[in-house]
Amino acid sequence: MRYKIVAGNWKMNLNQNEAIQLTNDINQYLSNNNLPKQVKVAIHPPLPYLANCVNYISEKNNAVFGVGGQNCYTQTSGAYTGETSPEMLKDIGCQYVLIGHSERRKYFNESHAFLAEKVKKVLETGLTPIFCCGEQLDIREAGTHEAHVGAQLRESLFDLSKEDFSKIIIAYEPVWAIGTGVTASPEQAQDMHAALRQLIANQYDKDIAENTTILYGGSCKPANAASLFSQADVDGGLIGGASLKAESFTEIIGIMAKCLSA
Ligand code: PGA
Repeated sequence: MRYKIVAGNWKMNLNQNEAIQLTNDINQYLSNNNLPKQVKVAIHPPLPYLANCVNYISEKNNAVFGVGGQNCYTQTSGAYTGETSPEMLKDIGCQYVLIGHSERRKYFNESHAFLAEKVKKVLETGLTPIFCCGEQLDIREAGTHEAHVGAQLRESLFDLSKEDFSKIIIAYEPVWAIGTGVTASPEQAQDMHAALRQLIANQYDKDIAENTTILYGGSCKPANAASLFSQADVDGGLIGGASLKAESFTEIIGIMAKCLSA
C-alpha cells in the first residue's frame, strides 16, 4: 500500500524533557483521533532521546506512530567510535531511519556510494529507510533539478532489487526550501514527485512506482500543508521546524487526514 506519512525531523533540537513531552502530546493526539488507515506518523528525535521517546508511544498507537533515527552507519558493530548501527536502532524499537538528508550530505560529505551502502544495510536490518534527495538553488535556477535529483536516486538506490526498492520511502526536499521559510509551490513539488515516480516506473515498473511513498520536505507547515498534500504525487511530508511543536505537527497530521477524506 502507498502510505501517507507525516514525519517529524527534530534535527539537533530539544532537551530530554521537551522530547518526552512532545512525544507524549503527539501520542495523545493519536489516541484521540482515528486516522485513515493508510496514514502513518513518524518522529525522528536526536539519538540520545530515541529509546525514551519509543517508550512514550502507547501500544494502541504502535501500528500508526513510529520512531526513527536521523542517521546510521553501514556496519553492525565494531570499532567505529561515535557511530550507531541500524541493528541498534532496531533493538531500541525504531522503525525508520533518515538517509542522505541534505545536511548530512553538506556537513558530513556523505557520497552517493556511502548512502547506497547505508540504504542496503538498513534494509537488511528490517528498518525502513526514508531516503532524502533534493537540489540546491543554483541547480533549480539552471533548470537541471530533475536530472540532479534523478541522479541521486540512480546512484544510491537503483542497484536495489525490486523487492528491496519497494520497501523504501523517498523524501524530496529542495535544499533552498529547508529551514528558509520558502516552500516549493505545490506545482513545483508535484512536478518533481511525478518525475521521480516516472523514473522509478522506468527503472522498475509502474506498480512499484505507484506504490512508492514520496514525501515533500522544506518549510512545510500548517499554512501550506493542504495545498502540498492535495497534489496527486505528494504522499505527505518530512517536517523540520514545524515538527518541534505539538500544536503545529498535529495540525499537519490532521490536514493529511482531511486531504484523504476530501
Ligand atoms: P524544515 O526542514 O521543515 O524546517 O524546512 C525540513 C527538513 O530538513 O527535513
